[in-house]
Amino acid sequence: MGAERIDKLLASTGRWSRKEIKGLIGQGRIKAGGHTVLRPEEKYDPMENRFTVDGEEINCAPNVYVMLHKPAGLLSATEDKRQKTVLDLLPEHLRRRGLFPVGRLDKDTTGLILLTDDGPLGHELLSPKKHVDKTYLAQVDGRIEPADQAALEAGMVLEDGLHCLPAGLEPVGDGSWCLVTLQEGKYHQVKRMLAARGKPVLSLKRLTMGPLTLDEGLEPGQWRLLTAQETAQLKRAVERP
Ligand code: URA
Repeated sequence: MGAERIDKLLASTGRWSRKEIKGLIGQGRIKAGGHTVLRPEEKYDPMENRFTVDGEEINCAPNVYVMLHKPAGLLSATEDKRQKTVLDLLPEHLRRRGLFPVGRLDKDTTGLILLTDDGPLGHELLSPKKHVDKTYLAQVDGRIEPADQAALEAGMVLEDGLHCLPAGLEPVGDGSWCLVTLQEGKYHQVKRMLAARGKPVLSLKRLTMGPLTLDEGLEPGQWRLLTAQETAQLKRAVERP
């Protein structure tokens, strides 16, 4: 990205206008690379400098990546006229950056959702060609049996003719819970596959997406930014042809 004016960088977070930043600089409240910023024209590379406003670290990276623990009852959409969406859980300055959820979970599904303003990466993660694995923990009405595992692993064809790619199925405990691993993300896919096996899903939670694992420290409704390492792993996951 290279060096950019400090007022432009801070304004890109959506938290302050350029005019407000000028005022903060005048009051000596902004630091870049450990030094107090004196003029809005000063240029810095956001990948190489740390920025603070009143001592609070500000992320001026060109893109933002958020891991969110979706609670049941919210839509995984950017906005909805009547119902709350996962975006409603984020602070205003992140919402203003135009984040979107990478893929959808049903309203009653909980677990890992990635939100970003990195359109190309989001697109790649969802591309069927990339086969980014997603793992779900499902509770079913019934018990998972070896025949169910064999059916999912072979690739199911559902009643409406939908062809599913081979999927992983691992019973957990007494078999009323299981781990399902998909390489794709078709509408209601886990619920439809298990229902077709006569094991309707009672609850569903996404645990992983590619190299990302839901942070156990996040309660439903909580979120955090991805670490630099997680972001790099995510980018690597879609690099391979
Ligand atoms: N499969 C489903 O059935 N629902 C989800 O929310 C995700 C995968």
